[in-house]
Amino acid sequence: MVVLALMAMSACRDVNKKAIISETAGTNMQTPMESTLQQTNFDTIIDGRAVKLYWLENKNLKMAITNYGGRIVALLTPDQDGNYVDVSIGYSNIKDYLDSAETYFGATIGRVGNRIAKGKFSLDGTEYSVVPNNNENALHGGENGFQDKVWGAEQPDTKTLILRYTSPDMEEGFPGNLTVKVTYSLTDNRAVRMEYEATTDKATVVNLTNHTYFNLNGEGSGSILNHSLQLYADQFIPVDQGLIPTGELKNVKGTPFDFKDFNTIGSRIDEEDRQLAFGGGYDHNFVLNGTKSNGMNHAATVVGDKSGIVMDVYTLEPGIQFYCGNFMDSENTLKSGAKDDYRTAFCLETQHFPDSPNQQGFPSITLRPGEVYHTVSEYKFSFR
Ligand code: GLA
Repeated sequence: MVVLALMAMSACRDVNKKAIISETAGTNMQTPMESTLQQTNFDTIIDGRAVKLYWLENKNLKMAITNYGGRIVALLTPDQDGNYVDVSIGYSNIKDYLDSAETYFGATIGRVGNRIAKGKFSLDGTEYSVVPNNNENALHGGENGFQDKVWGAEQPDTKTLILRYTSPDMEEGFPGNLTVKVTYSLTDNRAVRMEYEATTDKATVVNLTNHTYFNLNGEGSGSILNHSLQLYADQFIPVDQGLIPTGELKNVKGTPFDFKDFNTIGSRIDEEDRQLAFGGGYDHNFVLNGTKSNGMNHAATVVGDKSGIVMDVYTLEPGIQFYCGNFMDSENTLKSGAKDDYRTAFCLETQHFPDSPNQQGFPSITLRPGEVYHTVSEYKFSFR
């Protein structure tokens, strides 16, 4: 159980962190969002471990991350006029994350991102059972996935944060002690780089991703249905009512899932289509063509209609889950003061395909002792 004890403000201030903030404050004016995000609102102890807010900054981007769930709390990128826009959805304090009706805002997802049918899979002849938390299925690592864990954090420089977590053997039903390292960094070409590494002491399954909700017009600036989207995917993965893959990889041609050329997210979302009905909109995995850029698969390009901010997604992963906020329900108040209204954010979660442990035809997510899980994804920003 999560034990939260708010510590006295002065007692838990991080002196080094303060030094970093004041160094950068001299060269860059604080944006309104930076002033909203008070370090002290994130200083706490959860499960006996210290939680803090870490700011990363380079000449192009500013990003706030909490080690509670390895979450991106704010991501500030300039628009055409040089004004910083916070394009990620989050809260202004740790309590709101703990009380949230939506568990995954900004979070690092694991041990297995996306769904496992009925939470069951077998590995080397042994049956495993993950706690179902999405009707009868297991979603994003079960009931208390990596989004609920306090990660060890180390900030080697102002633009890098290293997070570490060891998931114990049989946590949420997964075999093996899994040692995970996630490195967030801001690159010179204006990207947020996420590098994931993991090792295990028993055969297990691993599929790590990040679950940031984006609105490229800025958090709280309304619907994302007029954002333009291009996905470098000729195929998507049809699902059943529980959003479990049927096993088929379907050509997007002639379907509302064809984002091979730019299209607005909303232009076909209300079409009568079984797959859209199952997802309540887009909540599907796309099979990346493998178009190489930056040494990775170019997965997606999204453009904010009001801001002109462009986000490109690159990944070493074979797939990307495109989710357009169909379950957002105005239940939470975000850091901007806006509610998390229906479809006011989208997620592009780079990953292996859903239910991989049960799907013979999908690339494997098995990790064995002696092997190193390694993957990289980037969210890169520009404007037009
Ligand atoms: C993923 C899932 C969605 C939903 C969101 C979080 O993207 O595919 O169905 O659960 O996470 O609400």
